[in-house]
Amino acid sequence: MLEGLQAVKITDSHIIKPFNCGDLDLNDFLLSDANNYHNQLLAVTYIVENDLQTAGFFSLLTDKVSVNDTESKNQWRKNFRSTLPRNKQFSSYPAIKIGRLAIDLNFQSRGLGTSIMDFIKAMILNDNRYGCRYITVDAYRQSLKYYEKNDFRYLTSTDANEDTRLMYFDLSTLLID
Ligand SMILES: CC(C)(COP(=O)(O)OP(=O)(O)OC[C@H]1O[C@@H](n2cnc3c(N)ncnc32)[C@H](O)[C@@H]1OP(=O)(O)O)[C@@H](O)C(=O)NCCC(=O)NCCS
Repeated sequence: MLEGLQAVKITDSHIIKPFNCGDLDLNDFLLSDANNYHNQLLAVTYIVENDLQTAGFFSLLTDKVSVNDTESKNQWRKNFRSTLPRNKQFSSYPAIKIGRLAIDLNFQSRGLGTSIMDFIKAMILNDNRYGCRYITVDAYRQSLKYYEKNDFRYLTSTDANEDTRLMYFDLSTLLID
């Protein structure tokens, strides 16, 4: 994380400091809806901030990667099933989804998005609290490079021309033998 910033979980009493990532829907989610999602147990939002402003935020919720998300059974076997022991080869695996993630314009392209992604990966893996193998995201087209840089892969090529693309990160790649 950049110096002087801290990550806090949203609460009813949290006063959200100014934020503008350049995307109205994402701005609006943070300012108007994140707390409702939190209270309805639909997603949890973490805010990354200093004393003056919100530098970024991300929302997480539970998910799974399933054979139905991939374009063929062959692809599922190659990219997912074959990476697990034979007796653990199922048709879906547990995941946590990044529902939303955004960095304020003042902080973009300074490595904060990457630091936050490292923070999310470490948070999910920490103590193996959740039993979660993958991180998933429906990535906006303009953010695909960012997710690629952070070692996310595409789940399928069938969404190659869509506005958002399904991507995943395999947390087991961070385990030390
Ligand atoms: C996408 C986003 C989260 C990246 O955060 P960031 O702090 O700017 O990213 P970093 O500085 O860690 O950059 C990491 C890599 O991401 C890519 N990247 C960053 N910003 C980018 C942008 N605006 N467009 C395309 N690629 C970008 C670059 O490849 C960069 O690597 P490089 O510096 O070696 O070239 C941020 O730009 C953002 O909030 N954008 C608007 C909202 C959005 O699209 N959110 C994603 C919703 S799925």
